[in-house]
Amino acid sequence: MSSSLAIEVTGLGKTYGTLRAIEDLSFTITKGEVFGLLGPNGAGKSTTLRILITLLRPTTGRATVLGHDVVQDAAKVRGLIGYVPQERAIDRFLTGREHLVLLGHLYHLPKLEAQERIKNLLKLVELEDHADRIAKTYSGGMKRKLDIACGLLPNPQLLFLDEPTLGLDVQSRLRIWDYIRGLRDQGITIVMTTNYLEEADLLCDRLAIFDEGHIRVIGSPKELKAGLGGDSLSLTIHNARPDMLERLSAGLKPLPFIRETRTKDNVIHVKVDSPEKSLPAVLEIASRVDCQVETIEYHRPRLDDVFVAYTGHAMKGEFPEVESE
Ligand SMILES: Nc1ncnc2c1ncn2[C@@H]1O[C@H](COP(=O)(O)OP(=O)(O)O)[C@@H](O)[C@H]1O
Ligand SMILES: [Mg+2]
Repeated sequence: MSSSLAIEVTGLGKTYGTLRAIEDLSFTITKGEVFGLLGPNGAGKSTTLRILITLLRPTTGRATVLGHDVVQDAAKVRGLIGYVPQERAIDRFLTGREHLVLLGHLYHLPKLEAQERIKNLLKLVELEDHADRIAKTYSGGMKRKLDIACGLLPNPQLLFLDEPTLGLDVQSRLRIWDYIRGLRDQGITIVMTTNYLEEADLLCDRLAIFDEGHIRVIGSPKELKAGLGGDSLSLTIHNARPDMLERLSAGLKPLPFIRETRTKDNVIHVKVDSPEKSLPAVLEIASRVDCQVETIEYHRPRLDDVFVAYTGHAMKGEFPEVESE
């Protein structure tokens, strides 16, 4: 196995009774990247994550984390990773600091080392001033920050986060993205699930699009969007006749940054490499062939277009919430 691999998953499947939660997943995650598992509720993201962190046994296939099998070498794997669950039970009566101290005992960290690390982590997630408050009184964003500090306490090479910003306000979400980027910059590999398209787009180096227990496509957000064929311009032509549109189309096709043209009724759709370059040229040719442009619409493929293209449906449309085991 190449040493640049953090995770290798082959033919992974998990059934709960008769329900196939995930089926035949294969993918790799490279050391140092932020890898996203993107998909709607019920798609199988948490199941996959929980197999990787050794909390669930797969029904079929196998997975390795830094070369260690998640079933046979589960203890080894646990020693290398940190985990931020979708919902951590924040204890009613403990302060933020006490949560971390308790966790330090669970990890058998030497006392001085634990103290030092807890101090640094509280600083990292900006909870120093609130560390001695009962965590129950924290805001959603503060609880999530404490969760992340907990996940980082064992000083992991890989951090798994399940829906790190679910339900948070915009400000808290941006802070958490900052931490995640900062961790990546320190060389920590990040594996996270999300059902926010924007989060996947802005934060993940690569992502796997999950739907109904299958991975539909894997790639960087940029590659995935570019794979849809580039930006498009749609021009509505005033009093269009077929011969006008034909002339316009013929005039556009030879241009180097025009990939494809398609006409329908009085509209011409043009796939372009660069809208900045193409728009002036498109307008000039339209006027040269006497096409009067009524409206122009411009569309740059977004991650939601990618999702639709590979799953056949939109990401929205809430799926029922699932009880975890
Ligand atoms: N412990 C469980 N018992 C039975 N079914 C489960 C259990 N956990 C998850 N599932 C089912 O497996 C599927 C995938 O769930 P999950 O991995 O939690 O998806 P996601 O994290 O993408 O929302 C869903 O249909 C869910 O109902
Ligand atoms: Mg989940």
